[in-house]
This record gives sequence, C-alpha cells and structure tokens, in this order.
Amino acid sequence: MKLASRVQQLQPSPTLAITAKAKALKAAGEDVLSLAAGEPDFATPEHIRKAAVAAMEAGHTGYAPSAGVPALRDTIRQTYETEMGLSYADDQVVVSCGAKHCLYNAFQAILDADSQAIIQAPYWVSYPEQVRLSGAQPLIVEPPEAGMGLNVDAMRAAITPKTKVIIINSPCNPTGHVDSSEDLKAIAKLAIDNDLIVVSDDIYDKLIFDGREFVSIVQLVPQMKDRTVVINGVSKSYAMTGWRLGYALGPPEIIAAMRKIQDQSTSNAVTFVQHAAIEALKSPPEVVEKMVAAFEQRRNRIVELLTNIPGLECRKPAGTFYAFAKFAAVIGRQHNGRKIESTLQLAEILLETERVAVIPGEAFGAQGYLRLSFATSEEAIEEAVSRIKRLIESLT
Ligand SMILES: Cc1ncc(COP(=O)(O)O)c(C=O)c1O
Repeated sequence: MKLASRVQQLQPSPTLAITAKAKALKAAGEDVLSLAAGEPDFATPEHIRKAAVAAMEAGHTGYAPSAGVPALRDTIRQTYETEMGLSYADDQVVVSCGAKHCLYNAFQAILDADSQAIIQAPYWVSYPEQVRLSGAQPLIVEPPEAGMGLNVDAMRAAITPKTKVIIINSPCNPTGHVDSSEDLKAIAKLAIDNDLIVVSDDIYDKLIFDGREFVSIVQLVPQMKDRTVVINGVSKSYAMTGWRLGYALGPPEIIAAMRKIQDQSTSNAVTFVQHAAIEALKSPPEVVEKMVAAFEQRRNRIVELLTNIPGLECRKPAGTFYAFAKFAAVIGRQHNGRKIESTLQLAEILLETERVAVIPGEAFGAQGYLRLSFATSEEAIEEAVSRIKRLIESLT
C-alpha cells in the first residue's frame, strides 16, 4: 500500500516512543525510573475535576460551538486582560483539543507548500513535523553559543522571501530557558521588518521560577498583536494534559482560518472539559503557585546532583519542568567495549542497563544533551541521578 507522501516524511514523536518503551518495561515488572515525561506528576486539582463532573451532570455533553464554548472564550479573554493587560476580541480566540492542536491549525492556516518557518534549536519535537505536515519547510536555526535561547543573528540570516513564520517558545521545552525582553524585542523587529508572523508557544508561561514573571512579545511590542498567534492551554499549568484543552489568540483573519479548519476536522474540544477549563483559569493563584514551588525545589535538587557528576554540565532552567544537561563529554567513551557515538545511544544504554528513561537531545535538534524531566518525586530524581552517575563512572 502506498501512503500519502506527507506521512512517509513524518517522523514519529521520539518523546512518545521512549515514554512508551519505559512504560512497557515498567508494566513487565522492571524497576524503571522515568525522567522522560512531558507532564506534571500532580493530579488535576480537585475543584477542576469536580467542575467537569458537575458540567457532565448538568448536561454539557453535546456538541458545542466549534470555536469553543462562549463562556470559556470570555474567560480566556478576561485572563489575558487581567494577567497581561492584553485585550482580545471574541473573534480573536479559538479553543482546540490541546496546544498541539492549536499549533497544527495555526500552521495549516498560515503556511503554504512553498513557505518556510524558522525554528530555533533546541526545539519542541512537534514543530518541524507539524510545519512539514502543512507542506512547508522548517528552517532550523543553530543554538546560540550558550546552547539555549534565541540566536537572533542566525534567524535573521535564515530569512528568505519564502519565510512566513518564526516560532518562539518561552519558557522553552526542552531547555527551560526564558527569553530575555531584549531578545524578544529583536525578534519583534525581525518580524516587522520582514513581514513575518510569530507563533508564540506560551504553554509553560506559568511554570517559571525564582520569582520571575513571564513577559510576552505582544506585551513588549504592542504592534506585534497584529502578527502574533499566541498558543496556550491548561495542560501544563493545571496538570490537565489528558483533558486535551488548548487555545490560541491572534489576528482575526488567522483565527477565522483556524476555526474554519477546526469546523471541518475535529469540531469542538470536549464540551464538559471546556466548562472545567473555565474553573481552572479562575483558580486562585495558590493552585499554580503550589505546583511551581514543588517544581522549583526539585529543579534545585536535580541541578545540584547532576552538576556533581564530573564531566556533566547543567544550567538552572528558569522555567518548565525540564533540565537540559550537557553530556557531550561522555561521547566517545566506551560502555562494555562499545563506543558511545551519540546521546541517542547513551539514552538507550541508560534505559537498557540502568532502567532510567530520559529523552536524548537529538529529538530536539541538539546532539550532546539529555532532557531530564523533574516532574517526579525527589526520591525518584535522587535514585535516577545516582543510577546515571553509576553508568557514567562505569564508562572507560
Ligand atoms: C512546547 C510545547 N508546546 C505544546 C505542547 C502541547 O501541549 P498540549 O498537551 O496542550 O497539546 C507541549 C507538550 O509537551 C509542549 O512541550
């Protein structure tokens, strides 16, 4: 059977593949520690779960408007107004089945077969694949010297007449880097000067540490509101990954196009989940603050433990729940007489021999790194890092 060429080009998600392998080993009774997950380990807060049940009981189980339940769209707009001072009209919001779905719809709406989208490495795994699915070409930009953050000069150099989009993601998966206002202003200038659209994936905007505040490119440069599609959702901030609820805010023409795509594909995100999302967004700040405090403490612990291993480097991530540690010094060493050629191979050896699951940097376009999720207990972090240490020390 010959499948469509767009599928033949598509790479399976490496993060989902490793997580699935770790889960299968665990199900087979193996003592697997996973630092691979891309989701909080907390349960969805009780008031949100109760709101979903109440919505079901109240009969919110039928089709809803494809672009989202109006009360949720209102709540999203109010949240942006009160938290960020940004006002969006109702025709500038669309609710979809997760931030991933919003990104997919955005690329389908904006990109043509001969378009290009600039993606900063290290990048979230789905950006290049979703861009390719739209028929367009991802232009991957090398990281700056620090290994993370925005390489504005390289982005500028990558722009061609076919470039339509720049994707930004702060706090960043996988690095946890938070973009500086200076860099965001530089991206805004690039976008304005070259008539580009910025897709700003802000899904981790609330998971930010050390008392820092998230700043959006639209807040910094108000004209960017006409050329920025903001992507957000409840998955990470409210521990609701399985509920599949995301939203996008942006220029009316783009949002109308995204709504049209959704009308003819998935229709609305689950109706009673949308009612629960209203409750999530109206949560008292302590709900998120409690989770952020726990992530911050675990971040401190994992970075301390990793940097104690000779040869490893790990900066303190400013947000998310990922540590992106440099294992480049391990490449070229031998494990049981076999030379380690890549961090992809190192991740495989770690899972096979020490039963620790992590995501290799190659998945994010950054060889020489491993992404370790600290959305797990401190005990699991300590045990996992001690196994990593044991493996590194065993290398010759
Ligand atoms: C950077 C980034 N964007 C988007 C998503 C997708 O979020 P959702 O679960 O709401 O689809 C993820 C999830 O891992 C992510 O890390």
